[in-house]
Amino acid sequence: MDVIGFGALNVDKIYLVSEIPKAEEESYVLDLKVYPGGSSANTIVGLSRLGLKTGFIGKVGKDEEGAFLVEDLKKEGVDTHNVIVSDGRTGCAMVFVDKKGERAILLDPALNDTIGFDEIDLDYVNKFKLLHLSSFVCKFNDSSFESQKKLVEIFNGVVSFDPGSIYAKFGLEKIKPLIKHTDVFMPNEGEVKLLTGLDYKDGAEFFLQWCEVVVVKRGDKGCYITDGKNSYEIPAYNVKVVDTTGAGDAFNAGFLYGYLKGKGLDECGKLGNYIASLCIQKVGARTGLPFINRL
Ligand SMILES: Nc1ncnc2c1ncn2[C@@H]1O[C@H](COP(=O)(O)OP(=O)(O)OP(=O)(O)O)[C@@H](O)[C@H]1O
Ligand SMILES: [Mg+2]
Repeated sequence: MDVIGFGALNVDKIYLVSEIPKAEEESYVLDLKVYPGGSSANTIVGLSRLGLKTGFIGKVGKDEEGAFLVEDLKKEGVDTHNVIVSDGRTGCAMVFVDKKGERAILLDPALNDTIGFDEIDLDYVNKFKLLHLSSFVCKFNDSSFESQKKLVEIFNGVVSFDPGSIYAKFGLEKIKPLIKHTDVFMPNEGEVKLLTGLDYKDGAEFFLQWCEVVVVKRGDKGCYITDGKNSYEIPAYNVKVVDTTGAGDAFNAGFLYGYLKGKGLDECGKLGNYIASLCIQKVGARTGLPFINRL
């Protein structure tokens, strides 16, 4: 088994609205699109489409949304043995977009934040070569975050970690227990700044006290990678951007694919930029993720 993800499983509901309503106001839905989402889940689907054997640690409700997410993972070839189905609501991101393209987001973490350590099948998880972590909201319950901290202590393989803006805002001290056990740390430039107050190069260097490789995503500037011995600035592909949702997750899939195939770090960075470039030319986080047999 290759890669197991551990993060939120969300249904992304994208509402096109006449106006984004303020308190006491009413406006109208013009269109609704529903996508399976969650940062780490997007990365895992990308890796599965590239032909790797994948699994996921997550939690959904016994509702229509939960069934939709589990079915979708199965369809993508992701093993759902450790996707827990329980009483309660499935996580959901309601995105309201008006005609000007302005957005308001209501995030319902629901069951995502409630994953207890005893709900993780450790023997199963340890069959994977790599564990990829993304963030949990932790607003009302930090069980899942606590379980991530315990799991990285005992996981036998490689750990990769994309903190996203949520964990970056927690600050370095709070997420240090995860970073300390991370081999491949994958923040974006803004998250490096939030966590260290440093620019992307000095910030990446700083994390090398704990991590083997630091990969900083830099939007249209591509990425920066260092392992302390070698550093690479890899420019992004020049493509027509349609929707950057999930660009970072797609990048992670490309990079980790190269990493597990034993490629050099520069090659991994190019693969990350490439898969991200395919993602941003289509609407939605997963639409542009390629299938290996169609590459
Ligand atoms: N405008 C762009 N042109 C070309 N490539 C891009 C562009 N924007 C993003 N990318 C590619 O996507 C990768 C990830 O994007 P970004 O640095 O924005 O990550 P992120 O902020 O973590 O994204 P996300 O919002 O999905 O979490 C970049 O490293 C780059 O390869
Ligand atoms: Mg990101």
